[in-house]
Amino acid sequence: MASYLHGFWGLSLSLSLSFVHSTSTASHVYIVYLGHNRHCDPNLISKSHLQLLSSVFASEEDAKRSLLYGYKYSFSGFSAKLNSSQAASLAEMEEVISIFESQVLKLHTTRSWDFMGLILDNTGEVTPVQLAYGDDIVVGIFDTGVWPESESFQEEPSMSPIPSSWKGTCVRGEKFDPQKACNRKLIGARYYVKGFEEEYGPLNASTNREYRSARDFLGHGTHTASTAAGSIAKNAGFFGLGRGIARGGAPRARLAVYKICWGKDSDGKCTEADILAAFDDALHDGVDVISASFGESPPLRPFFASNADIGSFNAMQHGVTVVFSGGNDGPEPSLVQNVAPWSICVAASSIDRTFPTEIVVNSDFSIVGESFISTEVKAKLVEAFTYFADGICKCENWMGRKATGRVVLCFSTMGSVKTEEAEAAAKKANASGLIFAEPMTELIAEVDIIPTVRIDIAQGTQLRDYLAQFPRLPIVQLKPSKTSIGKVPAPTVAYFSSRGPSSISPDILKPDITAPGIGVLAAWPPNTPPTLLPSDGRSVKWNFQSGTSMSCPHVSGVVALIKSAHPNWSPAAIRSALMTTAYTRDTSHDSILAGGSMKVSDPFDIGAGHINPMKAMDPGLIYDLKPTDYIVFLRNIGYTQDQINKIFLPSPDETERTSCPQAHKIPNSFINYPSITVSNLQSTMTIKRTVKNVGQKKNAIYFASVVKPGGVEVVVWPRVLVFSWFKEEVSYYVSLKPLKMSQGRFDFGQIVWSDGFHYVRSPLVVFVNNTHLDSVTHHSSI
Ligand SMILES: *[C@@H]1O[C@H](CO)[C@@H](O)[C@H](O)[C@H]1NC(C)=O
Ligand SMILES: *[C@@H]1O[C@H](CO)[C@@H](O)[C@H](O)[C@H]1NC(C)=O
Ligand SMILES: *[C@@H]1O[C@H](CO)[C@@H](O)[C@H](O)[C@H]1NC(C)=O
Ligand SMILES: *[C@@H]1O[C@H](CO)[C@@H](O)[C@H](O)[C@H]1NC(C)=O
Repeated sequence: MASYLHGFWGLSLSLSLSFVHSTSTASHVYIVYLGHNRHCDPNLISKSHLQLLSSVFASEEDAKRSLLYGYKYSFSGFSAKLNSSQAASLAEMEEVISIFESQVLKLHTTRSWDFMGLILDNTGEVTPVQLAYGDDIVVGIFDTGVWPESESFQEEPSMSPIPSSWKGTCVRGEKFDPQKACNRKLIGARYYVKGFEEEYGPLNASTNREYRSARDFLGHGTHTASTAAGSIAKNAGFFGLGRGIARGGAPRARLAVYKICWGKDSDGKCTEADILAAFDDALHDGVDVISASFGESPPLRPFFASNADIGSFNAMQHGVTVVFSGGNDGPEPSLVQNVAPWSICVAASSIDRTFPTEIVVNSDFSIVGESFISTEVKAKLVEAFTYFADGICKCENWMGRKATGRVVLCFSTMGSVKTEEAEAAAKKANASGLIFAEPMTELIAEVDIIPTVRIDIAQGTQLRDYLAQFPRLPIVQLKPSKTSIGKVPAPTVAYFSSRGPSSISPDILKPDITAPGIGVLAAWPPNTPPTLLPSDGRSVKWNFQSGTSMSCPHVSGVVALIKSAHPNWSPAAIRSALMTTAYTRDTSHDSILAGGSMKVSDPFDIGAGHINPMKAMDPGLIYDLKPTDYIVFLRNIGYTQDQINKIFLPSPDETERTSCPQAHKIPNSFINYPSITVSNLQSTMTIKRTVKNVGQKKNAIYFASVVKPGGVEVVVWPRVLVFSWFKEEVSYYVSLKPLKMSQGRFDFGQIVWSDGFHYVRSPLVVFVNNTHLDSVTHHSSI
């Protein structure tokens, strides 16, 4: 399924068309991207799409039949069923910017059976900022739909009318009556299923209980929507755990849901043809922020051969911020997803809330693990060897003996078992509970199908040794979990959070920022079991979930607040405010740890740091970018002037820059990004950055302080930036000079500008690569 093609080079360079085709001549859904749609009415664009498509079909009728979607409101393109030769012919046409096979993307939750808040818990009060801002902002959620009856989506009586600029709508569908479902809180709901059905066949009520509407079947979309902009709801909690007030990051903001992911074997599948249709509509409807918690694992496709890039690029041109999850492929490096420089990419980390769960053996030996256990389990404790071949807790290793009335002790390290597998195996053996020992960095409470307490390997070893003393099986009690706040340093980066550098554009630091993504409590459809497993008969209104899927909407909510407070800020300005105010210290005033290694985190784990919503409202300075500032980036990926003109909506004052001929290649490090990354520093390099004064005072003086990356001389000049009016832009330069012979590692530093009140911090990431300059005899072959 990994085949795609991309016609970046147009007619003249069609030889370099990379063309990986499937072995069969069968048709696939392709996406054909044609750039902006300025000055054209949608009907004319539709006609031109059909014309283009007809050129590779025998008749216009055939072409019509192959068409899934025309993208015509916010940009121009279409998706259609094509065979590989038709796709190749289209790729050669001048109008076509890119053409690629529509892929299926995944939701970014951590559970892989496969399913299973500002912080949605009771650790913080609702802040005045949250109550002051947001009602003029529409947050678009691209996900599995919504459960509109949830408390999170009820309108407050005091809510102002729907903004008059809103052009979206609530679409009627199965068990979704817009009159009842939508209100001044939930102001938009659409669904897109053509791409899904093309891939998996028609939604069939007898085999799939999905709703053919914006109603959420899987729970994921309800959870993310309530995290981003859920109304304030009292008495949230999961069987008494995490009890408190739930509310989204921007509780007053409006929600518009775009259902693009559909349940398939209790997994979420999102096709690109559907996703791009949602982008087209959402930008036309007038959303201000788009929250998208899905992606694809590396290898990443080139820019513009994947629609997350196309959709978010056009969103950026419309002034709409797109927030993506960075993926759950950590902790190994270079696996981060959604790395386009015009969107925000979010990592996941913990909050200072844990769910300590006591395990007591024979009433005299006790250890504390993590779980969401609501009622005590009392049973006999047994080692895995009794029930599972080689002590490996997997279903296929079960030896057929019932473990009724037993709690089984399993180690993840025996046969590399994942928690879900061990749970499924223990359930199959009819055990009463599971104690699961795993490396402490992975120890995160999850909602389980059988009472499960997670402990670390050292604790598991202790327990095993204790157990060995007794000829008869000891009695074990798994006590109900408690909710503990402020007892552990936080944040810590989730072990699963995908890490940088970006595998396709290492000079743009990704992820950009981290936010809460472990044990997030948010709204849940009562008809969807909290584990998503049919055997789970529980019905809950709130559920715990982990993943970058959950951290992404936290950032989306904060973006809504910033946008509401600063309506004229560009997506780049908002991102800058988030990044330069992010913190890198945890609650014990120490450096944030990187889960997965328990070492100090670096920018590849957390980007600029952990989101700091209050500070982000008033960052002092911003690194701004106009859409045309990304031209450097597009040139670097091989676009011609002609193609660039097709992609950009030219604005009157920028025509000059758009058409400026390419002088010499400018590296991506020169883009005015709020972080500075040089992934190949061979000799001295000087980078310019420009900051804009957005503080409350027109007169402001900022001083630089620098932490140098190891082995790199850093000179910042001038060292003092003097501003004398609001929005004044001042530039500074950063010279980087390698002081060491190196090849093969990144070093980290930072630049902070401060006026004594604001601290505007940029991570500095440098890879010195100069050993080859010195030696000519380094080509050793063995
Ligand atoms: C692709 O479809 C076109 C139009 O239906 C047909 O003429 C052509 O033979 C097909 N090519 C392949 C490789 O199947
Ligand atoms: C739905 O699935 C059932 C069982 O597999 C099958 O008999 C039926 O024909 C399907 N209906 C449609 C409309 O595909
Ligand atoms: C499974 O366990 C329950 C009690 O935990 C017991 O009532 C039931 O009989 C057991 N089922 C089997 C098939 O052993
Ligand atoms: C280091 O520089 C050499 C020579 O320019 C280049 O071939 C190589 O790809 C560079 N390595 C990295 C990691 O950028």
